[in-house]
Amino acid sequence: MRIDVITIFPEMFAGVLSTSILRIAREKNKLQVELTDLRDFTTDRHRSVDDRPFGGGPGMVLKVEPVAKAVREVRVRKPGAPGRLLLMCPQGRVFDQAFARELAAEPRLLLVAPRYEGYDERIVEILKPERVSIGDYVLTGGELPAMVVIDAVARLLPGVLGDEQSAEWESFSPAGQGLLEYPQYTRPAEFEGRAVPEVLLSGDHAKVEAWRREQARKRTADFRPDLLE
Ligand code: ADE
Repeated sequence: MRIDVITIFPEMFAGVLSTSILRIAREKNKLQVELTDLRDFTTDRHRSVDDRPFGGGPGMVLKVEPVAKAVREVRVRKPGAPGRLLLMCPQGRVFDQAFARELAAEPRLLLVAPRYEGYDERIVEILKPERVSIGDYVLTGGELPAMVVIDAVARLLPGVLGDEQSAEWESFSPAGQGLLEYPQYTRPAEFEGRAVPEVLLSGDHAKVEAWRREQARKRTADFRPDLLE
């Protein structure tokens, strides 16, 4: 998969893209991420990408021209599928595992990570991106949301995770059924007087499975009853 990101802070992505699973996915060429600096598409001396809002009000607004130019240029740079265009913004469709799975099936994505109080609405009218929110809170920009989308999508790409942790396996796990994960334990079997649940040491796979299913259901009922509805 190829993911293009349009941002004024490409440097924010370096740590995330060059660590752990994402680094390996890129090295194995399962994932290709191209960062494009929005300021390269400005024409004025100050390389400004924002301006004051018409009608007044606080803050600055992301300009339409550099975004339109950047999106078009990125599409031309790698012709073929135009790619699904996603605009990170708190008013968007809320990103969840089903959305991640949908995006992981695409050959190409183009993420726009805005900054400032807002963006010129003509970005949406002209380029028709899908707005994506990572949750009901407001961040200082779309860069972290873009990284969240990249991370969640990358781990679903074939060959990115090992067989053991493969995303395919996930569809049989509580998470795949919309439940929270069951609790896990590893050695030592006892720590500061607290022992691991007996059943996990029993070697009885059917019993372990039943216990985990029950725990997953209970946790979901306690913490996220909305998921059971
Ligand atoms: N930009 C600022 N907050 C955001 C959010 N919650 N989701 C996506 N983009 C954002």
